[in-house]
Amino acid sequence: ASASAAAPHAAYADQVHRAAQQSYSRKDDHVRLANSQHEAENRNSFDDVRFIHNSFPDIAVTDIDLHTDVLGARWELPFYINAMTGGSKQTGVLNASLAEAANATGISIASGSQHAALRDSSLTPTFATLREHTRGFLIANVGPSVTAAQAQQAVEMIDADALQVHVNAAQEIVMPEGDRDFRDWKASIDAIAETVQVPVIVKEVGFGMSQATIRYLYTTKAAAIDVSGKGGTDFITIENQRRKRSEFSYMTGWGESTVLSLMNVATVDNDIFGQNRPTQEGAERHCSKPQVIASGGVRTPLDVAIALSMGAQAVGVSGHFLHTLIASGTEGLIAEIERWKQQLGSIMTLLGARSLTELSRTDLVITGETAQEAEVLGIS
Ligand code: FNR
Repeated sequence: ASASAAAPHAAYADQVHRAAQQSYSRKDDHVRLANSQHEAENRNSFDDVRFIHNSFPDIAVTDIDLHTDVLGARWELPFYINAMTGGSKQTGVLNASLAEAANATGISIASGSQHAALRDSSLTPTFATLREHTRGFLIANVGPSVTAAQAQQAVEMIDADALQVHVNAAQEIVMPEGDRDFRDWKASIDAIAETVQVPVIVKEVGFGMSQATIRYLYTTKAAAIDVSGKGGTDFITIENQRRKRSEFSYMTGWGESTVLSLMNVATVDNDIFGQNRPTQEGAERHCSKPQVIASGGVRTPLDVAIALSMGAQAVGVSGHFLHTLIASGTEGLIAEIERWKQQLGSIMTLLGARSLTELSRTDLVITGETAQEAEVLGIS
């Protein structure tokens, strides 16, 4: 009897072990394939936007204040390291380096999905290392397939200040072992936002947000949304490369660009709040409105400035910083972040914008594919 009872258990243990191994190597695959996408940065929607030049900035570099207020906290810098990794030995090492760079430069950082550690606690150190290496603002990360209790557990695992809930249907569909049923996502996000003891950010993973998505999220308890648009790391390509046969090549390019997503936010804001360009003051006035964070294809400090000017309260960077870390080590990443800090200040000086509020009042011209799409969608 004991042998027959043991057999299914052994089979189950074997299955869990195989799934775990699959999951570890998936994290390593993601890093390797994402890194290769950033060896040369591609054209994207930020190239369709430019600032109007003014010959008289009237201010000095020393006037610039880069701080932003995100989820009730003061961030000294408006860009941060967005969600990436953890869940394998190799990615735990990367997390330690990313957090070290965040701490050294004073920027915030988000964890990669913590599902692997929620399933297998032996992987917890690959995420907990984030808090061990930074005293700064740290964001936990789960998907809507976890329970509210697990979401709270993810927050506690890394002593996080906020929680990202990633909505990644486009990735799951192409991922060989991905989810195929998304019926409970809305209810799950409600339950998570009601339960966890930190503010919740609902984020995309590089496919952007339509007006319908944004309008829906404005009705939820999400404290912030990260539109994370297409134009940078492309998870359809990554998951397709992980399939035995690359059946989904034709899906490359799916989603809304980051710039169009920010235009979608402005349109929804205008419809709901009657203002075209939400400023920091505007965001504070309408305190029920989730804050807006931008990410997806951010390659330079100029891309950061554009996203901030279009109303983002903060700007997330994943692929570019991952590639910098892999190519140049922790010191190289710290130097890059310091360069971005200086250069964002230089760009704001040139624009005569002392603060993010002033930056959100600068004039932009939008052309190319982004302008065409906006016109078709009736966005002005
Ligand atoms: C990601 N991203 C991500 N997002 C998330 O919410 N949870 C996750 O676990 C991951 N994992 C992950 C791994 C790697 C290697 C990368 C590069 C990215 C998505 C990320 O946060 C972001 O939304 C997109 O990558 C788009 O931004 P970039 O890479 O174009 O700056």
